[in-house]
Amino acid sequence: MSHKHPVRTIAIDGPAGAGKSTLGLGLARHLGFLYFDTGVTYRAVALAVLRRGIAPEDEAAVSALAEGLHIEVLPPRPDDDLPYLVHLDGQDVTRALRSPEVDAVVSIVAAFPRVRRAMVAQQRRIASGRQAVVVGRDIGTVVMPDADLKIYLDASLEARAARRHLELTQRNVASRYSDVLEGLRQRDRLDSSRADSPLRPAHDAVILDSTELSAEETLAQALALVEARNAALAPHQSAP
Ligand code: DC
Repeated sequence: MSHKHPVRTIAIDGPAGAGKSTLGLGLARHLGFLYFDTGVTYRAVALAVLRRGIAPEDEAAVSALAEGLHIEVLPPRPDDDLPYLVHLDGQDVTRALRSPEVDAVVSIVAAFPRVRRAMVAQQRRIASGRQAVVVGRDIGTVVMPDADLKIYLDASLEARAARRHLELTQRNVASRYSDVLEGLRQRDRLDSSRADSPLRPAHDAVILDSTELSAEETLAQALALVEARNAALAPHQSAP
């Protein structure tokens, strides 16, 4: 990647539980960029499917539904504890997107090509013309192949399961480590083996392995990557 301007768009991809949300949010706050977690678009499809009583495996019905949805990502209200708000057809669904019911079906609907095409279009519209940290599975490869910096955040399955388990426990959601591990293993398999846009690093992504790193250390390494890209600019081109 060659740059004529400071880093404006950052793509973060990687498997479930690698810490992409924590890193993405940290980077966005540091840089003053929009934080956009593209998983919310697939979660919105899953929620709509559940609410309409459509079978998640019914590809034609799910695809038709997805093609008619409108999703917006907005900055949070000042008194809110949420990092962003998601509106589905004008209704705030931010919290509903994180339910176990949505978790259980989202990988199924996210594998359908027509669903992916519709969501990629929504993701590009939401991110367009903004300074943004965009987080997902196929951002560097499909959604924003021209992103200024691409990070593929990885971690071992065990480390990811331990973090998820701790996070659930802290939210007072009862869970067993072995169930969390198995759930992640299944999501890995679905996300990596689907024919359309499987999870994989872009050829020009920087691979960051967070297995042995704290959230703070991971953020520090990513900020160093941004600074290195900006420092590589020609001397006469200064930041705005
Ligand atoms: O990151 P998450 O758990 O919110 O993602 C939910 C699902 O959506 C998960 O099955 C992966 C999928 N996803 C995707 O296929 N492509 C993206 N860009 C983001 C998420």
